[in-house]
Amino acid sequence: MDGTDFTPRRHGRYELRRAADSDVPAIAGLYRSLSQESMHLRFNGRVGAERLGQLARLEPAGDVRALVAVLDGAVVAEARYERLDSGGYEFGLVVADTEQHRGLGEAMLRGLREMARAEGIETLRAVVRVDNVGMLKLLQRTGCAVVEPADGDVLELEVATDEYMPGWGTRPVGAARPWRVLVEARGMWPSPETRALRAAGYDVRQCLGPSRTAGRPCPLLALGRCRLVEEADAVACLLPDADPDALALMERHAADLGTRLVATSGRTWRQVAPVLARAAG
Ligand SMILES: CC(C)(COP(=O)(O)OP(=O)(O)OC[C@H]1O[C@@H](n2cnc3c(N)ncnc32)[C@H](O)[C@@H]1OP(=O)(O)O)[C@@H](O)C(=O)NCCC(=O)NCCS
Repeated sequence: MDGTDFTPRRHGRYELRRAADSDVPAIAGLYRSLSQESMHLRFNGRVGAERLGQLARLEPAGDVRALVAVLDGAVVAEARYERLDSGGYEFGLVVADTEQHRGLGEAMLRGLREMARAEGIETLRAVVRVDNVGMLKLLQRTGCAVVEPADGDVLELEVATDEYMPGWGTRPVGAARPWRVLVEARGMWPSPETRALRAAGYDVRQCLGPSRTAGRPCPLLALGRCRLVEEADAVACLLPDADPDALALMERHAADLGTRLVATSGRTWRQVAPVLARAAG
């Protein structure tokens, strides 16, 4: 923990810096100050004051990293990632109610990804409530893959720590890897085809595709690379072709992917997906 992985900086009126153990009481204070709604969105429910104090800790050392935003000496936003027992890193982010909608959430997420990248972490995972419009918008703008579609109140998404899309993760040497199916489609809910393929053991991830309203271009079109596409065994591009960016993406796939492009419309996908699912059996 030498603090060299994030250079402190200003973002408008806020000072962004890596959190130290001495910030834990102020982070706990931020958590306790949250409105019911923000607490519900950050912690997926109501949490008592004592538990919030525990959640603010930066322990065990080495497993938790956090970034804070400070305004007039008070911590007004915090973002952290934590190593999971299963491997991988999960992150959470909160901005004080009084400071939301001022671009701070976006700056914090950018800073946290930078901090993680400096530590050699390529991907961060978030568990987000389906009603968390703000966070979903932020993640979509950053470029996220839906890893576990919503099947209740929450869904799981991943973002890369660089400017591209996240990859599919690595498996222990020798471990069998499931077939990877990338579905490019709007929406966070699993379609019956996605459910069937997941049930058959496939690793199915979803990308919402380029969207001018979400404010983020497609990294494949804009930067020439997308790990999700590169590392997929099969791609179903089901984006609305009335969207010019989606159409350009579809044309690019048609030129590059050969037989890995298995469907370009919902109709074909409904025919192809069951064949794939049966092939797994
Ligand atoms: C989600 C959260 C971190 C966003 O932080 P923020 O500082 O308000 O976000 P920004 O100002 O950087 O906004 C980024 C984009 O998201 C949009 N946005 C933020 N909150 C929104 C909301 N509640 N509804 C709709 N859009 C929202 C902003 O409008 C902006 O998009 P735009 O520029 O196109 O308008 C903040 O609202 C928060 O702390 N919420 C409670 C805790 C939480 O949900 N944490 C995430 C769970 S891990």
